Amino acid sequence: MERELALEFVRVTEAAALAAGRLMGRGDKEAADQAAVDAMRAVFDTVHIDGTVVIGEGEMDEAPMLYIGERVGTGSEPCVDVAVDPLEGTNLVAKGLPNALSVVAVAPRGCLLHAPDIYMDKIAVGPKARGCINLDAPVEENLKNVARALERDGRDLTAIILDRPRHAELIAAARTAGARVKLISDGDVSAAIATAIENTGVDILFGIGGAPEGVLAAAALKCLGGEMQARLKPEDEEDLKRIRDMGLEDPHKLLAIDDLVKGDDIIFAATGITDGDMLKGVRYHGRTAETHSLVMRCVTGTIRSVSATHVLARKPGYVHRRCT
Ligand code: FBP
Repeated sequence: MERELALEFVRVTEAAALAAGRLMGRGDKEAADQAAVDAMRAVFDTVHIDGTVVIGEGEMDEAPMLYIGERVGTGSEPCVDVAVDPLEGTNLVAKGLPNALSVVAVAPRGCLLHAPDIYMDKIAVGPKARGCINLDAPVEENLKNVARALERDGRDLTAIILDRPRHAELIAAARTAGARVKLISDGDVSAAIATAIENTGVDILFGIGGAPEGVLAAAALKCLGGEMQARLKPEDEEDLKRIRDMGLEDPHKLLAIDDLVKGDDIIFAATGITDGDMLKGVRYHGRTAETHSLVMRCVTGTIRSVSATHVLARKPGYVHRRCT
């Protein structure tokens, strides 16, 4: 993919963030999500790609826009797979909590795992701990190996975990092993990325979250040189069928980062919606608004932090709309 596309994908996530950010703290996660989807979809239509959504808002019958299989872009080359989460952390925006993002990952066709919207067990670390994790090993062993790789005492490691009853044992095991534990209410894409960025104070992600979010996180971690392993968590026969229908023969396979995202021709973009560990949230100043984004290209390893000021009156309707 041409490097210029990186900026195009930032425009896509910026639009979604600008639209969803307007609805921060209003307690209406559906409205915020819809605003993000509409804005993202509109800007995708201006991007010169022949894209197919492989990770999106759901299957065709459950999502009117950005559904799996939908074509996005102008239809011109390159042919790419597109993974989107216009609003990652719907509750976070509804409640005005940190770390809500708009995210996009793009790779040549066939390079992103086609994952249904089910759960996925995940473990993720940054570049210094690459090669030291094993999803099937006990929590203590992973923490010990990561501490060694980071040349730190185990008590100085911070594990980030979604605060869910299903993680009670996992949380207890991390605490028993001596790690500091950061529990988050939502947003495991941002949490996974944080493990690979210096000074976020987060070293390892454990736990079960959404499979679509897992693919997006893997794309970002690949650009950052981190590592992730995962396993889909089908809950019934229907989930098993959905996995097989999407082309994965063994639904229980341990997925390495290269199974989640193949090759290195990957572009990942994210824009902050609410303030977070890595990105500032959207700021509105009447006629203008500011956004803060990250865009990464795996092939070169370049990571850009993009601060933008948008003149709202000169943007199409998707960002100019005011809440009533
Ligand atoms: P939404 O943006 O769809 O609300 O997802 C937020 C999220 O916290 C993800 O980051 C995470 O992977 C997933 O939900 C966890 O699912 P659950 O809330 O069912 O535990």
